Amino acid sequence: MAKDIITVNELTKEEIIKIVNTAIDIKKNPVRYENRLRGKALLLLFQKSSTRTRIAFELGMKKLGGTTIVMDWGKSNFAISPLRYEARYIADMVDAILARLIKNEDVCELARSASVPVINGCCDMYHPSQVLADLMTVYEASGGFDTSMAYIGIQNNVANSLFYACLKVGVKLIFVTPLKDRIPDDFEMRAKKSKIFKETLNLEYAVLNSKFLYTDTWINMEEYNREDLSAERDKKIKTMAAYQINRRLIENRNVRIMHDMPVHPGLEIDEYAINCGMSVIFQQAENRMYAGQALLLYLLDTL
Ligand code: CP
Repeated sequence: MAKDIITVNELTKEEIIKIVNTAIDIKKNPVRYENRLRGKALLLLFQKSSTRTRIAFELGMKKLGGTTIVMDWGKSNFAISPLRYEARYIADMVDAILARLIKNEDVCELARSASVPVINGCCDMYHPSQVLADLMTVYEASGGFDTSMAYIGIQNNVANSLFYACLKVGVKLIFVTPLKDRIPDDFEMRAKKSKIFKETLNLEYAVLNSKFLYTDTWINMEEYNREDLSAERDKKIKTMAAYQINRRLIENRNVRIMHDMPVHPGLEIDEYAINCGMSVIFQQAENRMYAGQALLLYLLDTL
């Protein structure tokens, strides 16, 4: 049966470490991996906008010798036919699917219906390919996973996959999440059981006890330009304003700054934090491609 990556929790600690190590090796020795996926085809299906995920997987697949087809959900017949039948047909034509869909239920239905591996390219609940790149970045900066991170922001899709990934590999994780957008069903149970996870609203405690500070957008991409949500957006921004990662919080602190991008200077982060010497944000974004390539190699059985 094809392995699907919907949350990141489908991977064992050993598999994650293997993917991260392969990603680091691809980055150092790209020529060694040319043509490793020759003859393979990847469909990239987007219901939402993307910069990094598209570039990471489209360029990444091509650099491995494979072929890609990029499909906009709205311009395909997914919009007018049951998802399960479109998925079944596609699985006869390609070797893997990367899908950025709005709802987790749709990603799960796609995975159930397609007989090839499905990678969740970011839904309302999870963003697994992002957090593999995040772990790669942490590994590069720290030489391993014996380290600590605070996620400061709204508990969202990125935070949920980060939670699973950090707990799995042993990165100590603190959540400073005054607002919660989406929470997995097993979150409370896992959070309670874990000896390396804490939740607090004490920002100073989180900064003092973390080697990495990670933040993400306060506004979901599909909510940005919706007039009807402007009051809700303003309320969120007001609540979150005290949790911005900025110069005042990080200056003269030995802490690295992470953000999965796109960034929104003046909201969750300021210009100083994006551009300071401790920022690994652009390294993290670049790593999306190597981590994506390593994941494709793993799923298509050539790792
Ligand atoms: N971080 C991330 O997924 O970037 P894009 O939304 O641009 O793909």
